[in-house]
Amino acid sequence: MRVLSGIQPTGDLHLGNLLGAILRWVRMQEEAKPGEELLFFLADLHSLSDHIEPARRLANRREMAAALVASGIDPARSILFAQSDVPAHAELCWLLNGTARMGWLNRMTQWKDKAGKNRESASVALFDYPVLQAADILLYQATHVPVGEDQKQHIELTRDIAIKFNNDYDTELFVVPEPFVGAGTAARVMSLRDGSAKMSKSDPSDMSRINLTDDDETIAQKIRKARTDPEPLPADPALLATRPEAKNLVGLMATATGDSETAVLAHFEGQGFGAFKPALADALIALIAPLRTRLTELRTDTGELDRLLATGAARARAIGEPVLEQAYRAVGLR
Ligand code: ADP
Ligand code: TRP
Repeated sequence: MRVLSGIQPTGDLHLGNLLGAILRWVRMQEEAKPGEELLFFLADLHSLSDHIEPARRLANRREMAAALVASGIDPARSILFAQSDVPAHAELCWLLNGTARMGWLNRMTQWKDKAGKNRESASVALFDYPVLQAADILLYQATHVPVGEDQKQHIELTRDIAIKFNNDYDTELFVVPEPFVGAGTAARVMSLRDGSAKMSKSDPSDMSRINLTDDDETIAQKIRKARTDPEPLPADPALLATRPEAKNLVGLMATATGDSETAVLAHFEGQGFGAFKPALADALIALIAPLRTRLTELRTDTGELDRLLATGAARARAIGEPVLEQAYRAVGLR
């Protein structure tokens, strides 16, 4: 088993990133058996699909490395690195560009959503984004790729690319990976203002999300103001299906406390959100406050962060470079 996942280093992390991605990585790290390898990386080459000021791009890299370590990724147990420090990602992407089909990429929902009506002015990097992602995964022969719902299609594309490459070049080089989408609520945290939209850094309203850097009072206030309905809470989680805001908050409580939704509801059945919200705020503060404190300490030690990423990149290169070499050989470039 080899676990791999990446995240774009984009400024502030929110509760969706934390519950949907990072804390799941941490759990996989805790549950890994000896000999199982885990690789987690900052997808900083992927950030080229958008225009970002160079100084911001550089700052985001350290900021995200600090956030991952603060959240529990242990550089001694997991290989933590930045994609751009391992040139093999970009090289393998180019080799895989010969295998991926325009039609496959044209069907990607993320491409369609992000390019919108302005396809002609979208960057080539945005279109090719899923091929670079396939390179990230195939370079390390990863077997398990923990991602949110929204990334499942990219993992399926990676499988198609691996199968076609192996077929076309009569090789068994690439391992066909499995997506590893979390069950239940953690896979999709919704906006606090609209239960039908996912919590996202691109939502213009800061009240829609809880950021890793929010202080305790801000967290409590955002939960107090979160949109809800006037009904009391039921005993059966299935009855929340038509109440997206209530479902989201109950899901958050369950994830933050580690209890099941049924256990959460057993405690609050028949009560309204006046009783539920303060308890949820406390649970989220208990989850986030220690991470925020560690992040504040770590982010100032830029030398240590750079050292840590350099060590991670060296370990990643040692695994990836032989695979890249074999890929060059498979296509007849060696
Ligand atoms: P955003 O939507 O805020 O731009 P990204 O697209 O950068 O977030 O996502 C980074 C990671 O966090 C991805 O693995 C994604 O699946 C996860 N993620 C983002 N938003 C959510 C959410 N609302 N619920 C669960 N996971 C999420
Ligand atoms: N596209 C992913 C996201 O937006 C990040 C990512 C890049 C990734 N490369 C990856 C995730 C490889 C898993 C495996 O969240």
